[in-house]
Amino acid sequence: MVIGVPKEIKNNENRVALTPAGVAEFRRYGHTVYVQVNAGVESGFEDEEYIDAGAIMLPTIEEVYGISEMIMKVKEPIASEYELIKEDQLLFTYFHFASSEELTHAMIDRKAVCLAYETVEKTDRSLPLLIPMSEVAGRMAVQEGAKYLEKPQKGRGILLGGVPGVKPAHVLILGGGIVGTQAAKMAAGLGAHVTIMDISLPRLRYLSDIMPENVDTLMSNEYSIREAVKTSDLIIGAVLIPGAKAPHLITRDMLKLMRAGTVLVDVAVDQGGCIETCVPTTHENPTYVIDNVVHYCVANMPGAVPYTSTVALTNATLTYALQLANKGWQKACLDNDELKRGLNVVNGKIVYKGVADAFGLPLEDVTELLKKEEEQIDF
Ligand SMILES: NC(=O)c1ccc[n+]([C@@H]2O[C@H](COP(=O)([O-])OP(=O)(O)OC[C@H]3O[C@@H](n4cnc5c(N)ncnc54)[C@H](O)[C@@H]3O)[C@@H](O)[C@H]2O)c1
Repeated sequence: MVIGVPKEIKNNENRVALTPAGVAEFRRYGHTVYVQVNAGVESGFEDEEYIDAGAIMLPTIEEVYGISEMIMKVKEPIASEYELIKEDQLLFTYFHFASSEELTHAMIDRKAVCLAYETVEKTDRSLPLLIPMSEVAGRMAVQEGAKYLEKPQKGRGILLGGVPGVKPAHVLILGGGIVGTQAAKMAAGLGAHVTIMDISLPRLRYLSDIMPENVDTLMSNEYSIREAVKTSDLIIGAVLIPGAKAPHLITRDMLKLMRAGTVLVDVAVDQGGCIETCVPTTHENPTYVIDNVVHYCVANMPGAVPYTSTVALTNATLTYALQLANKGWQKACLDNDELKRGLNVVNGKIVYKGVADAFGLPLEDVTELLKKEEEQIDF
């Protein structure tokens, strides 16, 4: 298959969809990979490394789209890319269709095959291509929180781990999923006293078993949160209710209970935030202060560490991308339900319920559609 990797052009997106190691894997199976000049440079990968791995560099995005059967990207195509997309071209990237009707209609009109990273789903309902970014954000939440606890950053002026003879900081984590677990590991590793709250008892049992001594688990409810915020230095919001807005676990009135200089990092900001006073911020201007409480609410935290994020993402996407390239998208999706669930728009038809429901558009049965494709193609 001919694979194309354009340079990301969405504002502030420094990741790239494929590393030189990924190029070498495609080459090993006999595929051709075109990479746009400078596509990897913001993630720390020079053109020479791609060439050494077997890629062919193309100077323009038009050439990459023009020659490729499968485009691998990170973010959804933006308006200037729509007209570059060809009928039947396979696009493997994050789409988040339900949040953009314009993008949905554009992909329907282009008659492309859109396989969305975010809806590739395992049978246990986990989302293997979202997990790496949650891992990055969870670990970063502690790093950022520690920074904003410093006095010059308007924080309480407390070191997470303390020093001999001085108590460590108290870190409260709301939600013990991927983000919460990674945050807890980092905070505990730095010597902080950590409390993780979740509403799932099995999850709390698991966390209690695997976490070090300086991590406590607590059932999440309003009473316990209200008590805990009084003595917490860093509070990390990491809850998720799939398909719904995040619940406001920290309400505006609770800010008055906190000590001056407490830091709130609301990782769940992309789902509306679990802190009532959360407003999305950017890496250029990540924090603001309300009632002497520092709020950090960056919606794309992994964007600040493109090297780590790129490698983490491509580690997860590559096995799926290889299946698509080796078998063709039709057979790869017929053989693997995880990939099949990633299909959102196919040749002008919506095949993912969440997208059809979001805009009141007709839903096509993906299995029927794949069977029809199978009849047409001699595998
Ligand atoms: N800001 C960013 O850059 C960024 C990056 C990655 C992920 N995220 C977001 O981080 C959030 C967490 O993601 P995740 O991958 O850890 O999700 P996850 O599903 O792995 O974990 C969510 C956890 O929240 C728990 N929960 C639900 N309601 C709760 C409540 N009332 N109190 C306490 N816990 C509750 C669930 O039981 C679950 O364990 C999501 O909103 C995700 O979109 C943001």
